[in-house]
Amino acid sequence: MTQAQPTHTTHTAGRVRVLTGAKPTADLHVGNYFGAIKPAVEASLDPAKEMILMCADWHGLTDRAKILEPGKHTAGLLASYLAMGFSLEKNMIILQSEIPEIPEIAWYLSCVSAIGLLERAHAYKDALQSGKEPTAGLFNYPILMAADIVTFDAQIVPVGKDQLQHLEYASDMVKLFNNAVGRPVLFEPKALVQETQLLIGIDGERKMSKSYGNHIPLFAAKKDIEKRIKEVKTDSKGLDDPKDPETCAVWQILKSFGSKDAIDYMEDRLRKGTGYGYGHAKKDLMDEHERVFGSKRELYEHYLNSPREMAQLLAPSNSQARHIAATVRQRVRDALGLGIL
Ligand code: ADP
Ligand code: TRP
Repeated sequence: MTQAQPTHTTHTAGRVRVLTGAKPTADLHVGNYFGAIKPAVEASLDPAKEMILMCADWHGLTDRAKILEPGKHTAGLLASYLAMGFSLEKNMIILQSEIPEIPEIAWYLSCVSAIGLLERAHAYKDALQSGKEPTAGLFNYPILMAADIVTFDAQIVPVGKDQLQHLEYASDMVKLFNNAVGRPVLFEPKALVQETQLLIGIDGERKMSKSYGNHIPLFAAKKDIEKRIKEVKTDSKGLDDPKDPETCAVWQILKSFGSKDAIDYMEDRLRKGTGYGYGHAKKDLMDEHERVFGSKRELYEHYLNSPREMAQLLAPSNSQARHIAATVRQRVRDALGLGIL
């Protein structure tokens, strides 16, 4: 049941505030582009939406053995979104670790959340099953994520199915908090479940993922990308045989980022078969990769190597975000009767 929402929020008139979070990781690949970067870039160009893209570097710290990783990959993540055309005109790209209001609000949420709720989290249980150490950070992950969302009065949060439970938890925590203080103070977000299919990897079997080593990077050296594309698994149909695009990993991968013309052309040539083998298809995939990502490689590297320029570019996002976060924090503190000095 939805409850009353706060009347005074930080929302921008005429726009829906959409918040999305991405953990900084190495080797961004075509699967990440398809499932995360492309939708965020498109949403940033939609006049009805106000996008907050958060690089969730604190969320990346939950594995003690890899605690030094997020800091290394933040710049690459930010540079990728910028190079691929995320518009900052009416949107924000922010770094979670620059927003001190988030952990403060996470504390308030933790004080209304039962331990049992966190113990039931699928992501937590899966992490334990796969041998991860149960740090308090891993356990509290859903609280931090809920705080990311409520600190910005987010209205819509697009998530994959794997993150849906975390969004339900965020709603639960909002209700628990609002009930505890006796009035609507935190804004309850809505999850927008993304139905996009997972992109297949170059092994033609599992989803594209760096952990399976079956990925095609976005901005690696051209020869490395070429090597990966040559490795895409295909069946043994010959040059002139008609081929089924639906079962062809080369076409599936092209479909995730290519232009309509390139996709239609390859589909047609594969179906007809004559004179168009998998080698041709791979060459076309490489050309399209070069057109879409290769043309942005220089810009990506430029951002990556100019941290100061990137910081300047993101400074307005940061100050706007800090302003929102400070307003929400004050609302919460007032409701709790804190900070009287
Ligand atoms: P990886 O599996 O390579 O470690 P991550 O888990 O870091 O990738 O993924 C970050 C985001 O990129 C995910 O939340 C998801 O939205 C998207 N993503 C990753 N792999 C794929 C894929 N194969 N197809 C579609 N989206 C993907
Ligand atoms: N937990 C999300 C993931 O693993 C990333 C994330 C962090 C997030 N904070 C968020 C997503 C806030 C949406 C909203 O993919």
